[in-house]
Amino acid sequence: MDILQNIQGPNIPGSRQAATQLKIQVAATSRSFKKDHVKGKSLIEIGAGPSIHHILPACVNFEEIYLTDSLQENLQEIEKWLTDSSEAFDWSPYLKYVCHLQSTGRYIVRSKAEKLRRNVSLMKCDVTKTNPLQPKSLTLMNCVLAVACLTSACKTTRDFKTAVKNIVSLINPGGHLVLSDYCGVSYYLIGEAKFPRMSLDGNIVKEAVAESGCEIAEFKMFTNFQIPEGIFDCKNLFCLLARKL
Ligand SMILES: C[S@@+](CC[C@H](N)C(=O)[O-])C[C@H]1O[C@@H](n2cnc3c(N)ncnc32)[C@H](O)[C@@H]1O
Repeated sequence: MDILQNIQGPNIPGSRQAATQLKIQVAATSRSFKKDHVKGKSLIEIGAGPSIHHILPACVNFEEIYLTDSLQENLQEIEKWLTDSSEAFDWSPYLKYVCHLQSTGRYIVRSKAEKLRRNVSLMKCDVTKTNPLQPKSLTLMNCVLAVACLTSACKTTRDFKTAVKNIVSLINPGGHLVLSDYCGVSYYLIGEAKFPRMSLDGNIVKEAVAESGCEIAEFKMFTNFQIPEGIFDCKNLFCLLARKL
């Protein structure tokens, strides 16, 4: 079972709505990458899952992109797309959607995919570790992106604050954090399996980010985020952009 199952296949109840909501998420984080100053040499996405959709709006702003997850199976799924395997998930609707958001032409879709295949590296990570990339390490990043990862990795407010600190430790001073996750969620279903998720509120998020040594530049709550309850019980999604001091 993997989370791609929830956005593909005509027989999966709610999969069309889930795919639409995924596009809303991509549109939310892409707002940050439209800002001229959110760019640099390197970006790392933490807890990317088996997916590449969140880095699509960012890939024009950064030369080196690292996709990470705690599960090797998720990285293997991305590897299939990077190597253009016939078994890879088809990300082309999302590539087209992001090109549409960025008002770039259709021909850019192919060059965006080619650029990503050249510039993306995969790594294991664990946000509960002081160095989430341990035993490896990287030069400090210009940007850290984490979408829907921390409510999955953390159980308590304390865990959440620690995880935010751990991922912010990967950013160089002046670099950016783009964080997006759900508020008020309690579960996520994949097939028959029900995964618990941490219920966050916006104030805890703001506190955690400030305590990690970042200044929030933008915090936006998207309400009425309607994924069918057969998948997920959440109505609110936040997206924030912060700068490491
Ligand atoms: C709901 S998925 C989100 C995936 C992707 N970011 C997205 O928005 O589609 C949560 C991801 O967090 C990863 N994860 C869970 N615990 C983690 C941890 N301790 N460190 C890093 N990633 C973790 C899971 O393997 C999963 O891929």
